[in-house]
Amino acid sequence: MPESGGAMTRLLITRGLPAAGKTTFARTLQPTVTRVNRDDLRRMLHGARLYTPDAEAQVTRAQRACVETLLRSHTDVIVDDTNLPDAAVRAWARLAGRLRAGFEVRDFTGVGVEECLRRDAHRPEADRVGERGIRRMHDLYLAGRSLPLPVPPIGPAEGGLA
Ligand SMILES: Nc1ncnc2c1ncn2[C@@H]1O[C@H](COP(=O)(O)OP(=O)(O)OP(=O)(O)O)[C@@H](O)[C@H]1O
Ligand SMILES: [Mg+2]
Repeated sequence: MPESGGAMTRLLITRGLPAAGKTTFARTLQPTVTRVNRDDLRRMLHGARLYTPDAEAQVTRAQRACVETLLRSHTDVIVDDTNLPDAAVRAWARLAGRLRAGFEVRDFTGVGVEECLRRDAHRPEADRVGERGIRRMHDLYLAGRSLPLPVPPIGPAEGGLA
């Protein structure tokens, strides 16, 4: 999606464990790059992080609508979620492709699980994810994998939500 000046509108996504530093990085790009994050939407939409299937589906719809609208208006966006499943990366890549926006992954999977646990423990309680959740995500998506996680191939025939 070229702007009138010729620069391509960009969708950036972060990838990494909770407390890896994704939001801290994304904030350095604001306000030039707008930031849209599931956790903030959870609190905004529901007043709390409910994590029920219905609430999560609402967060997904609201986030995608927001990102799509911003990209259509030539605004750069960073989605500073964990984005660890390949399907999440593919879905964002396909949205960017459909809107002719550039797509970049900023990988934080090199920040190890023990460091994430340390950083999480020092966060304000309202932002803390907790050891169990961080270790579960590490075991599910990162343990035994080569890091940084390879960006999955994005083919036109791939699935995803875009
Ligand atoms: N490079 C860094 N070195 C040391 N501490 C950091 C660094 N980046 C972030 N932190 C600290 O780690 C904590 C977690 O950072 P941040 O909120 O950016 O993580 P996150 O990846 O967005 O986590 P979540 O997925 O839970 O949103 C914060 O207290 C932050 O100040
Ligand atoms: Mg964050």
